[in-house]
Amino acid sequence: MQTATIQFDHFNALADKEAGERIRAAKAALGKKAVLLCHHYQRADVYEHADLTGDSLKLSRLAGEAEAENIIFCGVHFMAEVADILSRPEQISILPDLAAGCSMADMANLAKVERCWRELSALMNPDEKITPVTYINSAADLKAFCGTHGGIVCTSSNAPKILEWSFNQREKVLFFPDQHLGRWSGYKMNIPLDEMVIWNPDLEQGGLTREQISKAKIILWHGFCSVHQMFQPRDIIKFRNQYPDGIVISHPECGFEVCKQSDYIGSTEYILKTVKEGPPNTRWLVGTELNLVERLAREVKAEGKIVQFMASTVCMCSTMQRIDPQHLAWTLENLVAGKTVNQIKVPEHEAVPAKTALERMLAVS
Ligand code: 13P
Ligand code: SF4
Repeated sequence: MQTATIQFDHFNALADKEAGERIRAAKAALGKKAVLLCHHYQRADVYEHADLTGDSLKLSRLAGEAEAENIIFCGVHFMAEVADILSRPEQISILPDLAAGCSMADMANLAKVERCWRELSALMNPDEKITPVTYINSAADLKAFCGTHGGIVCTSSNAPKILEWSFNQREKVLFFPDQHLGRWSGYKMNIPLDEMVIWNPDLEQGGLTREQISKAKIILWHGFCSVHQMFQPRDIIKFRNQYPDGIVISHPECGFEVCKQSDYIGSTEYILKTVKEGPPNTRWLVGTELNLVERLAREVKAEGKIVQFMASTVCMCSTMQRIDPQHLAWTLENLVAGKTVNQIKVPEHEAVPAKTALERMLAVS
């Protein structure tokens, strides 16, 4: 007899502790049928159930290597899309709450990027060519656009290397959606700041003149992460005044001045590794999402390391936070009952060229 999908309403009022117990029971029942991939920004009561954790690059690789028939992605929408694209056709990628998106990824869409591409092509010198580079924090159709137009995907851990590859193909780069990652990576490659210009998709010609476009090496999309833009240079100045021996480490989605004033810059995985491997009895100021920072602070406390959050206000990735124990328990119990809920399936016509762009990235990094 066919059983019906279990509705989420039954889980909504569940206490976190009870949801946690049901997650453990469902995971035990599923065994090797499901693997739980978890991004470092996940809340503690979800992260504790992870089989594997990582930054976007590591999680992409893990998704491509996963054996389980079900990949439960505790992250955001674009991450579950990448898992679907890179896994085998019979594997199923699941996002426990479909509302877990990335506000930065939403700042670029295919229609706007295609318009930008057309306008740039008309404005550029006829002998010049441009490589489209999309940050992995973007929808699958934008990755497909890059795959189709000789472009590539990058993550926060490989962006300078990917830019190097891109400039080996063509003279210019169109980088979307995160202007900060693009600018910082260009700066690391010694590209002068005035040769990186902002394309504002809401303005005619992106708000740029033909001369500005002609001079530019990198055209940066007007996108940013609302969490990382909260960190300010004044937070670093205050910390350094108070603790002259303190060490500052930030994510490259932070603004340019924050990156410039930090001692170390890197992906979430890099931040965790650097602090964990750092000398004992040190003090760190960390510019990335709060769940990660709080977990890290707890983990290194015994070595005498003090980890401080960079902002004075709470900066959480509120969309990733939507993946809670209730949604995870609901997803897993449905799988135990033989039902799939919240599958993320990228249509074939997008998945094939998006995979090309992702595989170019994996080969380069
Ligand atoms: P990482 O790839 O460094 O984990 O970054 C993903 C992200 O969305 C940071 O905001
Ligand atoms: Fe997107 Fe920012 Fe959340 Fe990262 S922290 S997933 S860039 S909204």
